[in-house]
Amino acid sequence: MTATGQVLATGLAAPEPGWQRSADVIVVGSGIAGLAVAIHARRAGLRVLVITKSFVTAGSTGWAQGGIAAALADDDSPAAHRHDTLVAGAGLCDVAAVDVLVNDGPRAIANLVRWGTEFDRNAAGDLALTREGGHGLRRIAHAGGDATGAEIVRAMVAEVANNPEITVIEHALALDLLLDDRGRAQGLTLHVIGEGQQDGVGAALAPMVVLATGGIGQVFNASTNPAVATGDGVALGLRAGAAVADMEFIQFHPTVLWLGGEAAGQQPLVSEAVRGEGAFLVDADGVRFMADQHPLADLAPRDVVAKAIMRRMRATEAPHMWLDGRHLGATMWQERFPTILASSRSHGIDPVTDLIPVAPAQHYTSGGLRTDTWGRTTIPGLFACGECSCTGVHGANRLASNSLLEGLVFADRIGSLLPSGLPDRADPVPPTAVRSLLSADARPTLQQAMTDGVGVLRSAASIDDALGRLADLPTAAETDAGTETWETTNLQGVAVTIGTAAGIRAETRGSHWREDYPDRDDARWRRRIVSTLLPDGSLEVAYEPVHVPQED
Ligand code: SIN
Repeated sequence: MTATGQVLATGLAAPEPGWQRSADVIVVGSGIAGLAVAIHARRAGLRVLVITKSFVTAGSTGWAQGGIAAALADDDSPAAHRHDTLVAGAGLCDVAAVDVLVNDGPRAIANLVRWGTEFDRNAAGDLALTREGGHGLRRIAHAGGDATGAEIVRAMVAEVANNPEITVIEHALALDLLLDDRGRAQGLTLHVIGEGQQDGVGAALAPMVVLATGGIGQVFNASTNPAVATGDGVALGLRAGAAVADMEFIQFHPTVLWLGGEAAGQQPLVSEAVRGEGAFLVDADGVRFMADQHPLADLAPRDVVAKAIMRRMRATEAPHMWLDGRHLGATMWQERFPTILASSRSHGIDPVTDLIPVAPAQHYTSGGLRTDTWGRTTIPGLFACGECSCTGVHGANRLASNSLLEGLVFADRIGSLLPSGLPDRADPVPPTAVRSLLSADARPTLQQAMTDGVGVLRSAASIDDALGRLADLPTAAETDAGTETWETTNLQGVAVTIGTAAGIRAETRGSHWREDYPDRDDARWRRRIVSTLLPDGSLEVAYEPVHVPQED
């Protein structure tokens, strides 16, 4: 079934590669997933090339506050973690992938400790664990209070630096996958802003390409994601013909610091862990509106909290709600939440004495490049892990702090394939389909269309309107093939895929809330929407049944 008349870019629009280099494994992205694959590949004795669009530390991982979930406590178990993950996933989790996640989780965290991550510990020296939305008990390891991601990145970058055989190229944007005559990945083209011989457009060749490019947050006006989150891996995979799934399940974090209606770009997160430690939501009249919304009240799964906030905002005509954490006290704020304390104070709000204005903003994409439980996409030799992938562990809604864990666990799985050998190496064939890039000027229109039409609240009419606006974006001049035009083109490919799937899914489930289909979890929609870009630039949509019984 071809679902949209929109024509997306399908192939290389860049000049001929001016230089070439080769490796055994190419990793695109330098967050937790990409760096873990690189470390494993090096340990397998392989030549690894990591390419990253900005600085090696600039990805989403470094911004993660809450932490990383795993069954680490004595009173916890993988079965209990599995239960909470499946409940949050609202009937669409891939149970085999969830089993991998929860069973391998504790070992993956032990790897992080071995690579030097210093998690916060209690007086007995055990990992200090906190709680977040949807978790039945304390299960979240954290570092530096609320600076978990920054500490993980610090340790992993140091581990990579200890391996001079891992080559990292910063300021390198992956453009298009290179395929051989049998349709197998053999490397990619990239645009490097550098000095010397490897500047401009080049080709990196390897029989194994791992995409770990993170999120798509810049598709929307406001997001917790950093500026680099432009969906490059998903768009690259789409253009190469890889299947993409669950893209309609965009997670909006309920408590993002509200900086005014016009605030755009990356917004400061106020971690769920703040509610995990006892803060609660109130409206302008001080009413604790979460109390009657869910048995877990303020710690309900985040789609429930985000929707309750949106409903309350609409009902009270307020631009935001409030988070009350004053009773946590100055010491708790300073020691557990130094990042949030500093960012709030920098905006004139002191959480020790003030209510914090909060509203939902885009935070995470549960979907991505469809993979099996070994990180394999539908293109031989092309792997994906972390946020740009869809292993199926998140289903319709990711459980808090399962994302760093997913990146790590499935990077480990990819790593465990390496000792048995690489795919065959062959020469790539030159790409044939050439389409023009979008103008960088199109980005604000694209973001506004998606925010208006495919945000927390959606309907057939709003989605159609957004898709119409996306079809009408201006193209770039041929001479203007820089990073921003590629990013905008990538954003459009991702946005159309999200909008198309959101329009097709005629129900409300997980983080996908259709105002015109308010009833939740229609049994007929217990299936995954899988999109593939055809050579003519249209999207083909298929359905993948979700067979295995879930916990509801
Ligand atoms: C948070 O700290 O609230 C975010 C955690 C997550 O997205 O998993």
